[in-house]
Amino acid sequence: MPKDISAEITSLKQRFGSRLCIMGHHYQHDMVVQHCDITGDSLELARRVAQVQAEHIVFCGVWFMGESAALLAGHNQRVYLPNPDADCLMSRMTPARLVRTVLEQLAAAGHPAIPLAYVNTDVELKAVVGEYGGAVCTSANARTMLRWALGQGERVLFLPDRHLGDNTATQLGIDPEERHVLRVGARGLVQPETQALNRRLLLWPGCCAIHARFSPDDVAAARATHPGCRIVAHPECREEVIAACDAAGSTAFLIKEAERLAAETPGCTLVVGTENNLVNRLAARHAKQCRIVPLGHAICGNMAKVTEKRLWQTLTALDCGTAIPVTVDENVQKPARLALTRMLAACGQ
Ligand code: 13P
Ligand code: SF4
Repeated sequence: MPKDISAEITSLKQRFGSRLCIMGHHYQHDMVVQHCDITGDSLELARRVAQVQAEHIVFCGVWFMGESAALLAGHNQRVYLPNPDADCLMSRMTPARLVRTVLEQLAAAGHPAIPLAYVNTDVELKAVVGEYGGAVCTSANARTMLRWALGQGERVLFLPDRHLGDNTATQLGIDPEERHVLRVGARGLVQPETQALNRRLLLWPGCCAIHARFSPDDVAAARATHPGCRIVAHPECREEVIAACDAAGSTAFLIKEAERLAAETPGCTLVVGTENNLVNRLAARHAKQCRIVPLGHAICGNMAKVTEKRLWQTLTALDCGTAIPVTVDENVQKPARLALTRMLAACGQ
């Protein structure tokens, strides 16, 4: 291993020149982010893949992000993940076969649903969603996409994140009486006859353990510690947490909110409920104007599996021709791409 990994990465990047593009999600550590040509949230990164010309895309993020990038990349491009073991656990809460069973059970019970899947899902699930007339969404366009999905049929099945689905429904003014969190077991719906399957919005019972950890007590404690502070959080947090906050929104929203407060209210305190790598970066960026603190401890262990060392190893393997690109099973490519491109089209991208 070289003594100075950073310098080695810089020199490898120079060697590749325009043939290489390193993309990174905002939840990555600064040591990784410093090497990224493009950083963004899942929506921005998905959008940018189509515009990137480089033949090698090294994607610093979790598995589903690399897979989505591979789906959207051109024929002459390859996508590499510095650590393929970095896997968003929420994205594994919707096994494709189980979701298909539930969609069929709903249709058989006379309550067919249009699936709307958070981008944090695997490609097999995206393919099922594409096949059943649905689309993908991200936290940044969940409102637009839920409105879109409700326009496609009588009811929507939102998956896997029940909190993002619920919080988005609240933002759209959908009555809680119109929503139902499904009870799902290994073989499909549990006691379907006792469930409110006729509701307009059915929510899959998944969540992100990192964001669902925040509680209303954390919000109350932050208000007591920082009187007059503003508190914002990611919509993967629980509904009661979002209700106690001043505002909620995607990663892109949280970044803009920090910029806005730093410019308009110098000296204020902003408390942010999301992954701490992003909060710490915002705190450093705006340290001269305001104080930005995390709502609580929240580090995504899977995002953290991508390290500077892993990035260097990937670039070295690429240089030697031994790097293994992300591949997507041919049978699922078309419907999965359809679910993703429906999102890009519905959002005017
Ligand atoms: P964004 O869609 O805001 O990028 O978030 C992705 C994610 O994994 C949030 O936990
Ligand atoms: Fe998945 Fe949550 Fe990590 Fe985001 S923060 S990648 S949703 S586990």
